Order: sequence, then C-alpha cells, then structure tokens
Amino acid sequence: MKSVGIAILGFGTVGAGTYNILAERKERIKEEYGVDITVKAIYVRNPKKAITNGAPQELVTSNFDDIITDSSIDIVAECIGGIEPAKTLLIESLKAGKNIVTANKELFAKHWGELEKYASKTKAGMYFEATCGGGIPVIRTLTQAMQANTILQIKGIINGTTNYILSRMSDEGASYENVLADAQALGFAEADPTADVEGYDASYKLAILSSLAFNKFLPAELIYREGISKVQAEDIAIGKQLGFTIKLLAIAKLIDGKIEARVHPVFLKNSHPLASVSGSFNGIFIVGDNVGDIMLYGRGAGSLPTGSAVVSDIVFCARQIEHARYAEISDVITKQDIISDFTSDYYMRMTVLDLSGVLSQITSIFADNNISITSMRQDAGEGVVSIVLVTHKSSENNIRKAIKEIESLSEVQKVNAVIRVEK
Ligand code: HSE
Repeated sequence: MKSVGIAILGFGTVGAGTYNILAERKERIKEEYGVDITVKAIYVRNPKKAITNGAPQELVTSNFDDIITDSSIDIVAECIGGIEPAKTLLIESLKAGKNIVTANKELFAKHWGELEKYASKTKAGMYFEATCGGGIPVIRTLTQAMQANTILQIKGIINGTTNYILSRMSDEGASYENVLADAQALGFAEADPTADVEGYDASYKLAILSSLAFNKFLPAELIYREGISKVQAEDIAIGKQLGFTIKLLAIAKLIDGKIEARVHPVFLKNSHPLASVSGSFNGIFIVGDNVGDIMLYGRGAGSLPTGSAVVSDIVFCARQIEHARYAEISDVITKQDIISDFTSDYYMRMTVLDLSGVLSQITSIFADNNISITSMRQDAGEGVVSIVLVTHKSSENNIRKAIKEIESLSEVQKVNAVIRVEK
C-alpha cells in the first residue's frame, strides 16, 4: 500500500480539524482509497498552545527545516491563513518538490500565479478545495465535473460571517452594529471584521472560482466590491414587505467573451434558491450551458467542514501518480476584459421634502437616464416623505448618474439606500 507522509502547518480551527479527521479516518482511508496517510509533523509558531489544543507533542515543531528536510513528508497542508509566513512556507515546500494543499483564499487569490511557477518547476501538486466554500466541494465540481460545459455564471453566498449577520438582522430587525458586536462576542465574527464585512474574503473566493470557471486568472482587485457595513435595518424591513431577502452575493458572468464580476449586498426575490441559504451557511449557484443550473449548499467555515475539504485534497493528492494543479491556466483577465457597466434591477430609498413637484423632478431624472420604475411607495413624515422605488433592469452607470442628479436637488435630503435586486 502507498504510504504518504503529511505535515500540517498551523493548528488553529482548520489545522486541528484536519488533524482530527485524518486521525479518526486513517483506517477507513486505507481501506477505501488504498493509501496510508500519516501525519509526520505539525508546524506551529507556539508549540505550547498547539499541544494544549490537542496536537501530539512528538509531532509539534516550530522549525520548518524539520519538514523540508524530511523526505518522508510528501504533502504540506497549509492551515495558517494570511499572506506571511504562509506564502514563504508554501514556496519553500514547492521548491523542495512537496505537494501543497491550502485553505488560504487570500494567499491563493493573490499569489496563485507565482505559486504555479514554483509548482510547475518541480512538478509538485497544488490543491486548494478548502479555499472556497469551506466543506462544499465547489472546486472539484468546477474542475472535475463540468467538462461538458462552458460555465456561464456563478452566483454565491460565499462568506458565512456576513450571511450570519444579515440573517440575524433580518430575523431580529436589529442594526448592523448590534449584530456585529454580538457575532464578535460569540466568535462568529473576527475582532477585526474588515475582510469579511467589507467583502474582501468573498472577492478572493470569487477570484478563485471565476478563474477556474472561465479558465483565466481573475485578479481580485478587478472585482467590483461593496460590503455590508452600510446595510440598514429599515431597508431589510421594507425589502421583506416587497418579498426580498438581503444577501451578500458574489456574482461572476461570462458575457460575449467578457467577464462581469462583483461582490455586493443584493435583494434576492424570496423565491430564489439562494434566498433560503441562511445563518453561517454558504450556497453556490453555477450555470453551465449544457447542464443548466446547479446549486451547492453547506457549511462554508468551521473546523470539521473546512478540515473535510483539506482532507479530501490530501487523499486526492495522495492518490495521484502525476501531480496536477486542478487547472492549467495561463491567461490573465485584464481591465479591458471586465464589464464595468453591468445591469440590474435597483431598490432605492430617499428622503425628500413634502412639496409639490418633487416627485415629478425625480421621475423625470429617471426618465432622462433611461431608467424605468417598476414600483413606488411613499410614506409621509413630518414635512418629509420617504420614497421607496424599485426599477426595471437598468445600467449601473445610468443609476449612478441619476443618483448624483437626484442628490443635487435642493428638495432631496438624502438618498438613504441603493440596493441591487437579483431576480
Ligand atoms: N471568514 C470566512 C467566512 C471563513 O466567514 O466565510 C471561511 O472562509
């Protein structure tokens, strides 16, 4: 039987989950997949902490040379996160001809091309199922199961923290600030929540998924990105009355050879399959030209779900005779390949003075910008009126221009919210 030695880098949530699954399933993996996988080393910065968290003392090391020089270690599974030291450790591993498995979406999205160069030199394998969607096998779906298709579209809820926050805001009518503080106290959100709540994490994952889907590297910085920190409880409540659920959606589309890629809050019609993906769950909707619609659903984070994806990569890698890197991508998407003026339906809420003629000024701005209104409602307050309207499909550029013009009207106090509506 083939024996394969593993080193796990990091023993936090994902590293510990990976170790525990490998320990618990060693015999079954031998029986079912014909490989004997042994964890030979666990590399950490703080050995004491790792040992307290359950890492066997004899495996723990903080000397990376122990791993690089150990010829019985075939696979290095990186579960540290962040750019450094993970990047250097993975490059050293690839240079030494060791296969790598990583759960690190930021590193992979930003430095995939560079890692690829090192991997191709030594013919090492590079596997990254755990970078997107936690335990959801989305990378394998895109790379191993869609050969008969041109992938036309990916739409996903791929950040569990923001989905948890938006779901609670929606269920409880609570404000973003209150739910975020509670989520941090409960450990659902990081002390510094920026990467999640401002949509960076989702944009890294979308960059990886789109690169595989469209077979061209998509740099994350070309993805239009808006987070959830400006989402207001009032709009969620009005959205509910209109039959909408709020979600942070990552969207990538192939349109006439060009790519549309964006991460931002959206109102989804309640009937959309992704509308029912709530709490910290992830859901990914893929459209292929031949297969049509596919939807994957599951836990996008957590020790055992993400550990499940890392272990799946380790077993997959251990069984390869020649190593691969899931996809041979050489082209890079540039700014010219990106559609910046996408189209969508839009929800808008604005506060205006309760004077005659204001509404007609606003509707004529819409008409001038080729924006057609689907529905509109007014709620009168003390001398002011709150106007909520939903548009038909409109161009993003036209909407932005119209908002600027509306905001410049002296009778308009504020455009309070603009949320794209996905059907
Ligand atoms: N911060 C990520 C999330 C963890 O909330 O989905 C998994 O990538």
